[in-house]
Amino acid sequence: MPETSPKGLARLAFGGDYNPEQWPETVWQDDVRLMREAGVTMVSVGIFSWALLEPAPGVHDFGWLDRVLGLLHDNGIRVDLGTPTVAPPVWFYRDHPDALPVTAEGVRHEFGSRGAICHSNAHYRAAAADITTRLAERYADHPALAMWHVHNEYGVPVSACYCDSCAAHFRRWLATVYGTVDAVNEAWGTAFWGQRYARLEDVNPPRVTPTVGNPGQALDYKRFADATMRENFRAERDILHRLAPGVPVTTNFMTALSQCDSVDYWAWGREVDIVTNDHYLITDGRRTHVNLAMAADLTRSVGAGAPWILLEHSTSGVNWQPRNPAKAPGQMARNSLAHVARGSEGAMFFQWRQSRRGAEKFHSAMVPHGGADTRVWREVVELGASLDSLAAVRGTRTEADVAVLWDWQSWWAQNLAWRPSEDADPRERADAFYEALYDRHLTVDFARPETDLSAYPLVVVPALYLMTQKAGADLKAYVERGGTLVVSYFSGIVDEHDAVHEGAYPGALRDVLGLTVEEFSPLLQGESVRLTGPDGRDLDGDVWTEFVVPRGAETVWRYADGLAAGRPAVTRHRLGEGVAWYVSTRLGQDGLDVVLGRAAEDARIAPRAGLPRDVEVVRRSGETGSYLFAINHTAVDAKVPLETSGDELLTGERAAGRLAVPAGAVRVVRLDG
Ligand code: GAL
Repeated sequence: MPETSPKGLARLAFGGDYNPEQWPETVWQDDVRLMREAGVTMVSVGIFSWALLEPAPGVHDFGWLDRVLGLLHDNGIRVDLGTPTVAPPVWFYRDHPDALPVTAEGVRHEFGSRGAICHSNAHYRAAAADITTRLAERYADHPALAMWHVHNEYGVPVSACYCDSCAAHFRRWLATVYGTVDAVNEAWGTAFWGQRYARLEDVNPPRVTPTVGNPGQALDYKRFADATMRENFRAERDILHRLAPGVPVTTNFMTALSQCDSVDYWAWGREVDIVTNDHYLITDGRRTHVNLAMAADLTRSVGAGAPWILLEHSTSGVNWQPRNPAKAPGQMARNSLAHVARGSEGAMFFQWRQSRRGAEKFHSAMVPHGGADTRVWREVVELGASLDSLAAVRGTRTEADVAVLWDWQSWWAQNLAWRPSEDADPRERADAFYEALYDRHLTVDFARPETDLSAYPLVVVPALYLMTQKAGADLKAYVERGGTLVVSYFSGIVDEHDAVHEGAYPGALRDVLGLTVEEFSPLLQGESVRLTGPDGRDLDGDVWTEFVVPRGAETVWRYADGLAAGRPAVTRHRLGEGVAWYVSTRLGQDGLDVVLGRAAEDARIAPRAGLPRDVEVVRRSGETGSYLFAINHTAVDAKVPLETSGDELLTGERAAGRLAVPAGAVRVVRLDG
């Protein structure tokens, strides 16, 4: 069994990407002095260093890295050592220009940035294996080595290449998955528009076509591109496991749905020894702490609930959005501890020292351009002390109340062209349902379809357009055995090949929901409909309506206007011991809250009384005890009811009754008992 936590790290991870190669060696001494001052425990090194480690083909220079690792070790700092395979040197491309990726339009990328990689390229694969082998041979037994950081954020900035090597590789992949060309024709429905293939050799990547291409082909290409990146990850991982047994291997994910859409993290979560994640606040006017919580829950979930590590976030502003606000005082600590509450074993940053040159010089860092006499540095030092006092939470697990079903492959399928409405956005529904659950102070585990959900009283399906019959049957069994299910519109429509399930919509969910849908009738922009419901409680919907025919379900809200007027809008189906709700329009946050409130009653989930909006309360439990995290995202002091008394770990005070959480502050109580 591979190690599942950083070797030799006895505290929470605190540190960042350390790029000493950008600085003269005289600065390194200052770096480690400051790292000690802040209580840094681990740094990520060497992620983009290939050109320095191998300045010419076969010529290696590890001297500087030896000195860096030695210095870090002498100062008690653990190292997350990168394989630099996300940034091959220019000489590599000079010799192998075909390793540069090609877009669907046929444009070959140039050298001069990072991540310019065709993952099918045999020369790239060989070179990546070689540099990984040399690093592993040299550093496997280095006393500073805590874990391996393979590559960087697979899937961004290039998620797929469309070159001829990829075409050949895609055909091999199709042969393995389908066996014959006839099976491919069947799966993709190539009888449509005369797309039939006589031989697999004629199949290409979904390059630019005059109008919409074959959706089955497009969906399979996404799967192929994802699987190809994973092949390359596995190749590096296996070298590292072989040469450095006992050192865990990770690659940094980007689970936030707004930050990477090309990687099936359910599959990746099974491949790494430790799940690690990068998260950046998207400052688009929405509540950034809700998006953060969602990304953290998703990260924990792809690792099956095990502790994970936040490997990158920012101390203050980033530099790659149109407008990059600084973080408010205290926000960095709140962000960091919110990740810890949801299972992270620490908080790491991009990057340690802010660069003076290059593309990211205006991105914040732990040591800003202004040095140690800055607000950011003082907050970094404070955070180091806070994380130090939370070491006991290591190994504990976040407790969830409900499950939300999510699937990257369904997302890919629904985002293909020519759907009933481009406003029906699966990510938007996932965000909206998550936010409604967050506002009810419920902690979410994400789950993939076809998994055992019996541990959850409530399961929510915000957007699962693609669902197998097996996934639908599993949900039916879940409800029959007493579960409560809430399903949003345009779910359960197609199978794994993007073929509509036979019979009436929603083919995979008709039985569990006790209804069929005759037609979709999306609304035009700006249109909305009124829903009349129980106790005069009316709701509004927009974007989507449909003609629902109850077949066992009762109508709870009914369309009052629009083309679907008089028909069911929100239904409830008692089935076996449980209940299945269906929401056939896009409800706003108020409407979602009302419906989820009814579903929570069915699920016998008691409302979390006495918690103000935006005061986040999450629990982690395990062998060392049970820890309640209370994070006050508001500008007003709050009180959080405690079931039992305990020790507050950040202030060292006793806490009982109602825990005071000052405006903007975080409190972590180790509960007695
Ligand atoms: C990450 C990346 C880092 C850095 C950071 C800036 O996606 O892994 O290398 O570029 O973004 O926010």
